[in-house]
Amino acid sequence: MKKVITYGTYDLLHQGHLNLLRRAKELGDYLIVGVTSDSFDKNRGKLNVRNNVLERVEAVKATGYADEVIIEDYVGQKIDDIQKYDVDIFAIGSDWEGKFDYLNEYCNVVYLPRTQGISSTQLRAESTIDVRVGIIGCGRVAQRFPSEAAVVNGINVIGAYDINPHISEEFIKEEKLEKTFSSVEEMYPCVDAVYIATPHLSHYELIKDALENKKHVLVETPMVLDGEKAIELFELAEKQGVLLMEANKTAHCPAFNHLMVMIKSGVIGEVVDIDASLSKLWDDNMSLREFDSSQAGGSMYELASYPLLPIIKLMGINYDSIRFFSRMYNGIDMYTKCILQYPKGVCALKVGLGAKTEGNLIISGTKGYAYVPAPWWKTDYFELRYEDQNQNKKFFYQWDGFGLRYEIQEFISCIVNHRFSSARLKREESIAMAEIMGKFRERDNFIEI
Ligand code: CTP
Repeated sequence: MKKVITYGTYDLLHQGHLNLLRRAKELGDYLIVGVTSDSFDKNRGKLNVRNNVLERVEAVKATGYADEVIIEDYVGQKIDDIQKYDVDIFAIGSDWEGKFDYLNEYCNVVYLPRTQGISSTQLRAESTIDVRVGIIGCGRVAQRFPSEAAVVNGINVIGAYDINPHISEEFIKEEKLEKTFSSVEEMYPCVDAVYIATPHLSHYELIKDALENKKHVLVETPMVLDGEKAIELFELAEKQGVLLMEANKTAHCPAFNHLMVMIKSGVIGEVVDIDASLSKLWDDNMSLREFDSSQAGGSMYELASYPLLPIIKLMGINYDSIRFFSRMYNGIDMYTKCILQYPKGVCALKVGLGAKTEGNLIISGTKGYAYVPAPWWKTDYFELRYEDQNQNKKFFYQWDGFGLRYEIQEFISCIVNHRFSSARLKREESIAMAEIMGKFRERDNFIEI
């Protein structure tokens, strides 16, 4: 029996796929089709696949050409599969001409003619209505947004507004955007959504105003510094039928998500302790907003949304107590250690603008622990470690660009699919973080060190 194998994403299955599968099948007696997993596609930068892996597998099966469908999940798997399934022919479309010659060592490589004039990319583009986004606040954080948005389908960054018109003009020139707006009111008719990247204390009013104007909102983290306000804003978003999402980039990063679901599935047993740390020394420039108490500067507000994320995601929002230990300077915390006690666990986060810490994340469980080295908030690697070191596992992922593309993609996907919240950072999780910021502001259980 002559076995043929072929691979692809098979998103929005089209005539090109049908022709390819038919031709591949005709090369032998038995056709194996490898369909890429969702995480594999994400890891190789294919962020916009519309159908999930189950839908894509079903679509391939429904063609009737595949005798067997397998999932492709890692680089190098093709060689493994060819050997494992004793494959005679590897077939792929001619757009890959030459790219798979290295497989000749294992089987016959055949490049089949590609059907002209059709592709999943083209179908996705045709069926997508671009979400028009305006940027509010053109500071350091916003500078990363346009280039990251450029790699996501379905978004059109229209222009920007800044309280200082010179800054927004510079910004749009630099980022090659179409338009500066002199006010948010002028921006609203031209956009479906806004990305708010202004100083923390302005978030509440700007979010509220955008929601009242029925604009979807992606707002930089921390969204607000008060739980009540967070609840009010999410309720307003729901009432207005628009999406409100906190832009916590770690929450949307593929590796971090994989780590969370693995731990929830019990790979290190029951979680008893989480230690998360993040520090960023700026001591050469104390005039920055980060050091200004009147602009909600300080380590907690600036950095804590990241270490709080694994704690809230894994241990939940119902902690028994929370305590803050801070080193203060000019009214802001240069360093804070925060301890959250849960019914069955204890967690600590450390954040520092004026103290350097080892920026890692350690999640300890009853059977083992997860170790994510610095910078864990841009997760691209982690290890699961056990008493028996032979059981240890290392996981590697891609972290592309500034990493905002993952949250932008989720934001757009939620809007396009009329999903008004994201499982990666649930409303109650954002609210819990805002509540913690509020407790810190009120100096609840606070000790100065
Ligand atoms: N293919 C083809 N003719 C087309 C499109 C795809 O023969 N017009 C082939 C590819 O060469 C590959 C298989 O179909 O062997 C699966 O390709 P896939 O990457 O899933 O399809 P594309 O439409 O090329 O997807 P995308 O635009 O997302 O890259």
